[in-house]
Amino acid sequence: GTSAVDIQQEILSCIEQNGNVNSLDIARKLNIAHQKIVGAIKSIESLGNVITVKQDTKKSLECTEEGRNVANDGSFEARLFNSLPPEGSPLAEIKANFPNANIALGAAMKYKWVRKDGEKVVRAIPTIEDQVQAHLQAILTGAVESVPEKLRADYKKRKLIKEIDLAYFEVSKGCEFTTKVTKQEAELTKEMIESGQWKGKNFKPFNFKSKGRLEQRSGHLHPLMQLRSEFRQIFLEMGFTEMPTNNFIESAFWNFDALFQPQKHPARDAQDTFYVADPAKTITVPEDYLERVKKTHTVGGYGSTGYQSDWSRDEANKNLLRTHTTAVSARMLYRLAQEGFKPVKYFSIDRVFRNETLDATHLAEFHQLEGVVADYNLSVKNLMGVIKAFFEKIGITKLRFKPAYNPYTEPSMEIFSFHEGLKKWVEVGNSGMFRPEMLRPMGIPENITVAAWGLSLERPAMIMYEINNIRELVGPRVKMELILENPVCTINKFRRPEPPNRGT
Ligand code: PHE
Repeated sequence: GTSAVDIQQEILSCIEQNGNVNSLDIARKLNIAHQKIVGAIKSIESLGNVITVKQDTKKSLECTEEGRNVANDGSFEARLFNSLPPEGSPLAEIKANFPNANIALGAAMKYKWVRKDGEKVVRAIPTIEDQVQAHLQAILTGAVESVPEKLRADYKKRKLIKEIDLAYFEVSKGCEFTTKVTKQEAELTKEMIESGQWKGKNFKPFNFKSKGRLEQRSGHLHPLMQLRSEFRQIFLEMGFTEMPTNNFIESAFWNFDALFQPQKHPARDAQDTFYVADPAKTITVPEDYLERVKKTHTVGGYGSTGYQSDWSRDEANKNLLRTHTTAVSARMLYRLAQEGFKPVKYFSIDRVFRNETLDATHLAEFHQLEGVVADYNLSVKNLMGVIKAFFEKIGITKLRFKPAYNPYTEPSMEIFSFHEGLKKWVEVGNSGMFRPEMLRPMGIPENITVAAWGLSLERPAMIMYEINNIRELVGPRVKMELILENPVCTINKFRRPEPPNRGT
């Protein structure tokens, strides 16, 4: 092929001889695609004042996709002619199988290339010349004028060619005209600097007009993790401190017993909880605290009668994948009591595990958000107030509380919010005041109450992304586009726009 520098050289010699050149003429003369000539002109232009370039457009013709197809493989009528065996082919077969059979047959008959012989189509002459193909090949190279005007109109009707505005260039000598093109250096190297060669080099100027890549790929947070960081921000704005949640494996003691969850509670069944086989038992539990927990479960205390049933240390020692982040809250409240109580606001957002039947809205692992407020004489009103403030931050203002039951809270309330899309109340969380049977064995003083609430991270995420199947949010079926095109801030997606006011 002709190298880029060769083409530039040709263009410059042409200008030297004729004073100026037109990019279309030179493309035809050199039989090189016009686009390549344009590229070469641009390269010479970037050298400085070697040439002067003027751009103009003119009406021209271009092959359509079908036209290019014909230019490459021949017209349908020629293809039909070439496909006919010496004995001919049945007309019905051609009509059924040959691409564009009607057009091909019509044209081949008109040119008298083929004729009908009973039910068959046979060749009428031994060889043909595919003029349509030749013309389209000419148009491909820009030699539009070589095709008779009448035929151009015909090809246009057949949608083999179409009219375009063709941009071309008139090139003439610049004030520093030369026919000697030297390859420009694109890079200043260490060797050039050391040897001093750079002094004699011709460097390619920077192209500050270059568009660069439109889409820049970069790292993206998974939508769920992004939502987590936004929720984290909300908790921090509200003055909450994050609890350390970096232990997925927990003992039954902290996950259940510390929370006054009876050992016979169905949630502790292996059907609901994943127990860990190795190591199967926890190593240490604070012994004095464990004694108080055991006593509260078996005989009661702090005004409670307890469960009045057996309590097994072996059961409490079992390791499991934590079923809720309330296990972390229990550890933190115990620690707070040991360090000397002071009012606190804690939160956590992390993964929990449940041995559940998997379906469109449930996975065996998901994320929980949890808020805990411990202070002197807090009441249910304080709990409802802080939950309202929290949900308001994500644009959820319609809240309802429904009495519920948790072994570790009294009272307990499920939190419902009005879903504008579904037009119904949906459960968004669970809450309550931690029971004295949980707090007092820890050493939390009597005049302290603790309000807490929890919700899954996946539920609001599914509502926000309008995803009905959780597998489209978590796991191998997540679409890359969801992650790449996800806006930087997602939480305000909760804030559905007000319905437009249409007046009355
Ligand atoms: N632990 C509860 C759950 O898993 C949520 C909760 C947290 C309820 C705190 C009350 C208080 O659903």
